[in-house]
Amino acid sequence: MKRILSGIKPTGVPHLGNYFGMMRPAIEWQDRGEAYYFIADYHALTTVQDPSALRENTRSVALDFLACGLDPEKAVLFRQSDVPEVTELTWLLSCVTPMPMLENCHAYKDHVAKDRTPNHGLFAYPVLMAADILLYDSHIVPVGRDQKQHVEVTRDIAAAMNRIYGEGLFVIPEPSILPQVATVVGLDGQKMSKSYDNTIALFEDEKALRKKIMGIVTDSTPVEAPKDPDQSSIVALYRLLANDADVRTMEGEFRSGGIGYGEFKKRLFAAVWEFFRPMRERRAALASDPAGVDAVLLAGGERARTVARKTMERVRAAVGLR
Ligand code: TRP
Repeated sequence: MKRILSGIKPTGVPHLGNYFGMMRPAIEWQDRGEAYYFIADYHALTTVQDPSALRENTRSVALDFLACGLDPEKAVLFRQSDVPEVTELTWLLSCVTPMPMLENCHAYKDHVAKDRTPNHGLFAYPVLMAADILLYDSHIVPVGRDQKQHVEVTRDIAAAMNRIYGEGLFVIPEPSILPQVATVVGLDGQKMSKSYDNTIALFEDEKALRKKIMGIVTDSTPVEAPKDPDQSSIVALYRLLANDADVRTMEGEFRSGGIGYGEFKKRLFAAVWEFFRPMRERRAALASDPAGVDAVLLAGGERARTVARKTMERVRAAVGLR
């Protein structure tokens, strides 16, 4: 049985990029193996220093995940910090991780490039992520393209541990990236990301969603002129959510001209709103029972911790702490 693991950082409310890049693939994986999904609250602390925001985001990510179809009977859903063993493993892994490997990681490099002073947590972020993955002997890690480098770092760290302390100590994990949806375009045409402030949250209210979609940046091609569907964020987003026939219609109408971007945006809004309707309804039901969501997270934490404790016994013995 393959073990599948992924995490999502509660630094804000989940958006379409998170959904198509990570949440939906993760939910699909729950039927194909033993899936472990967690809310990476330790990771969020590298940037979120507002306790109530962290609590609220964590809860909202759990709700969104459950609303989108994560089934706690099939997958283990838990809070990263409910398994503190992961911080101990992080230390053990840190001691075999070369600094230059971390200096080469993009989150850290971007930070330095912007002349900001990274905290040690941000620098060590990939090691904590490696601990997340290795603690559960994960085989497959479904992630967005931006996390591929981190999974490669994990593989290198696992290989180093195996070389030093014995082959077979850790499973070498594989990333799983769905190529067609690995990058979701944002409102401004760049990759959708919290850091670019160009996201569409999964569960915006109707008015806010309409406003965001009507604000998608477009060029100044006049209404009557033909437009290139392959250059348009509107079409790129529509392809994620609409059925093939509707996508072909929109592509054809882009090429033939005569319809303005405003009209296409209205169509995109309707598609997004419909696509998330069943999930929105499920989310409302879940949100009315906060104790139920807490219970899911606690039970998931217990299950995850049982696995983690076992791994740590093995690892402590291997490195000579026992
Ligand atoms: N770093 C990931 C992100 O920002 C979240 C994450 C933390 C993760 N630990 C993980 C993803 C382990 C996969 C596996 O999206």
